[in-house]
Amino acid sequence: MKKKLIAGNWKMNGNLTANAKLLGDILAGLSQPACDVAVGVPAVYLAQCQSVLAGTAIDLASQDVSSHEAGAYTGEISAGMLKDFGVRYAIVGHSERRQYHGETDELVAIKAQRALASGITPIVCVGETLAEREAGKTDEVVKRQLAAVIHTNGHCISEIVVAYEPVWAIGTGKTASPEQAQQVHAVLRAQLHAATEHSARIKLLYGGSMNAANAAALLVQPDIDGGLIGGAALKAQDFLTIIAACA
Ligand code: PGA
Repeated sequence: MKKKLIAGNWKMNGNLTANAKLLGDILAGLSQPACDVAVGVPAVYLAQCQSVLAGTAIDLASQDVSSHEAGAYTGEISAGMLKDFGVRYAIVGHSERRQYHGETDELVAIKAQRALASGITPIVCVGETLAEREAGKTDEVVKRQLAAVIHTNGHCISEIVVAYEPVWAIGTGKTASPEQAQQVHAVLRAQLHAATEHSARIKLLYGGSMNAANAAALLVQPDIDGGLIGGAALKAQDFLTIIAACA
């Protein structure tokens, strides 16, 4: 059976002291997890977290990656640079990047391509806003977002991870019900199935207020292969409980 993946997304939180404590507490409570585990840390802390996590069961993720390979792109960080610091996954197309930084479906698709070209697994985020859900457009929106990534990445598509993150559930405490999440995951799975014969091995994560209390019910759904965890990833015990829910 495919291993699940629990990935933390720290967003713009932490500092040297807090990161060391959080990772120390997680590592102290983590004995042979049944799932893959990763933490998505702010880029400036990649070196710190790389040295703390070396040789452990926790992989390193970045929260973004440049769509360019190298050159005059002030402030950008390339996939090659991330690879230098042991980054295994790159979150791309998070709704906060789409919303606050104007990232389009096409840009997200190119970012995924850059990550793949450097041997980094992109965690491609898709998800509808509340208005889109209420207008009955959920499937249409997530399919459009994923279609761009499939179109640009061709046969490499089986190497990606997809995270379904309904925008209305992110950081709001409102989680999609397991049935709501499963419904969208099934739509995404079918779309991937039409694109590649290897669709079964693609991990589909759920994200959006997943926490210690609701994780088990979400993770038991047939097409939910893990979670992308924001707020709860900043609390060692909660993160550990979510990891344990994969067993
Ligand atoms: P949340 O964030 O768990 O705090 O809702 C999830 C995410 O944005 O990845």
